[in-house]
Amino acid sequence: MSEINFDWLNALPKVELHLHLEGSLEPELMFTLAKRNNVKIPFTSVEQIKEAYQFNNLQDFLDIYYQGADVLVVEQDFYDLTWAYLLKCQQQNVLHVEPFFDPQTHTARGIDFSTIIDGINRALVDGREKLGISSELILCFLRHLSEDDAFITLQQAIPHLDKIKAVGLDSSEKGHPPEKFSRVFAKARELGLLTVAHAGEEGPAEYIWTALNDLKVSRVDHGVSAIFDKALMEYLIAAQMPLTICPLSNTKLKVFADMSEHTILQMLELGVCVTVNSDDPAYFGGYMTENFVVLRDSLAMTKAQAKRLVSNSIKGSFTSLEYKNTMQQQLADYR
Ligand code: ADE
Ligand code: ZN
Repeated sequence: MSEINFDWLNALPKVELHLHLEGSLEPELMFTLAKRNNVKIPFTSVEQIKEAYQFNNLQDFLDIYYQGADVLVVEQDFYDLTWAYLLKCQQQNVLHVEPFFDPQTHTARGIDFSTIIDGINRALVDGREKLGISSELILCFLRHLSEDDAFITLQQAIPHLDKIKAVGLDSSEKGHPPEKFSRVFAKARELGLLTVAHAGEEGPAEYIWTALNDLKVSRVDHGVSAIFDKALMEYLIAAQMPLTICPLSNTKLKVFADMSEHTILQMLELGVCVTVNSDDPAYFGGYMTENFVVLRDSLAMTKAQAKRLVSNSIKGSFTSLEYKNTMQQQLADYR
């Protein structure tokens, strides 16, 4: 029997650095919004939706994920989506979040950039005021689209820079290396934004190197393929570069065949700054607590390891040094 029970993991103060808001769209809310906006979805029940969530790889998932996002139309929809996620965070004692949103998924359907970001931002403000959950928002470019398209999106973001902390890169990884976006990331940095990128999820360790060298990322999203490159591992350890790892996502998308094969704790013990996150919780079977639970069940994670994983998330977050210190103290005091 593990020394850890569910309640201990649920009440553990946590921080989430890798969460796609569109991936937190639960089937129930999808139905509500489909009805409210008169959008047709190819499902008739929540059970049917859940059955459809079987994926062999990242692309399988992305096809269904982009389809689900069609129900998001007006500002209130983006508010409701974000607010539902924040309520989950409150239930699981997540103190601070840095969610991603994919504007191109929505602007391609004719939705204004401001509709999207205003709804999300209003919920994040309410989250701070009513739930005490702090947040920083990250705009992700879709890497299967062109760099020119990303430039258009960055231009649309300029009136809203006060609401955005960083840019990221997501969607289909293979065949779309980070360096495809070098110029738009350089422009984002000039505008004062930090950068992150999905790299080494399905793609090779080489993509992690180019995310670091060409995009100058402050964190690597996923990054699990680093384990195949000794020099990269040494660099990540020396630089204490945070990796935002998503255990349930990695097994649902068959990056690892089984949770028992996941290398997150091996990396932790080698000194890599690894963190635990949920990625797309509505699609992968769980939020923050559930991701910690599987590490306990499949990898025999200890309490000390769980606390080190959270401490890494605090270190790797984009919040103020003062708030990082407050959260580190809260974590240290947790027994
Ligand atoms: N978009 C949403 N989830 C993603 C993931 N795991 N990888 C790449 N793009 C994504
Ligand atoms: Zn992701």
